Amino acid sequence: MPVEFDCQKLELALKTETKGENYPFSLHIFDSVASTNQTLWNLLAEGAKPWSVVIAKQQTAGRGQWGRQWISPTGGLYLSVAIAPKLEASASYQLTLASAWGIASHLHQLGVDVGIKWPNDLVINSRKLGGILTETKINNGYITQAVIGVGINWKNPVPETGINLEMWQASYITKPISCLEMLTWAVLRGIESGMECLAQEGISILLSRYLGLLSNIGDKVYIDNLAGTVVGVTSQGKLRVSMETYDKTDINTTELYIEPGTISLGYRKSSI
Ligand code: BTN
Repeated sequence: MPVEFDCQKLELALKTETKGENYPFSLHIFDSVASTNQTLWNLLAEGAKPWSVVIAKQQTAGRGQWGRQWISPTGGLYLSVAIAPKLEASASYQLTLASAWGIASHLHQLGVDVGIKWPNDLVINSRKLGGILTETKINNGYITQAVIGVGINWKNPVPETGINLEMWQASYITKPISCLEMLTWAVLRGIESGMECLAQEGISILLSRYLGLLSNIGDKVYIDNLAGTVVGVTSQGKLRVSMETYDKTDINTTELYIEPGTISLGYRKSSI
């Protein structure tokens, strides 16, 4: 059965949740676009304001991290949110950390057992539920505009290493997420609270919350055939890996900082 997106239901969900107070989002909903990120950049070029949101029922050229394609059939959630952060370009990864934490913690509050897989994945039982793609425009070393793109598997088919919420909720009598519109507002509210935390509380607090939901702490990783252990993430989004090296009788511990996109932490393939 095709998944319909009911804009009025979403606006009602947002209004009910905000108890009639204004919410910042201005919604643009499409049946099909190439990429919601690209559509939002086009709208921004025409004067759209921060907190404009593009949602599509499907994408024909969805963009993933590291130049990959994001396969986007109907049944999934595909949305992009425009923000205007006051951040130096070197801190742009903080937008992804903030979004990942905000979305994961909102879904958690609703009862979804979701974690974060470094740097930008949402996971359930070590399988990919969704991902975040942050794109920025930089001027004089500062971010002037950013688009946060989020894809979450709702009812769409997923690869072996993925999971969708329909599969995960199948055994629940009362489903934590009852409809796509509820998932949408949880994601929007999550991005908003992630940005609020970053702006008001700062990166140290945000990072400690992000680490609280990170599923990779303690994972063993191999770098140049040497074993290391994941011990955290830096404020620039790099993975902190502790390496033990043996020098005759001495054991030395050093820490490496791994750039996002240079190693993969892997997924589980077994059934849930
Ligand atoms: C990843 O590779 O994990 C990030 C995927 C991000 C996909 C979303 S879907 C909505 C938005 N529009 C895009 O073209 N990409 C992002």
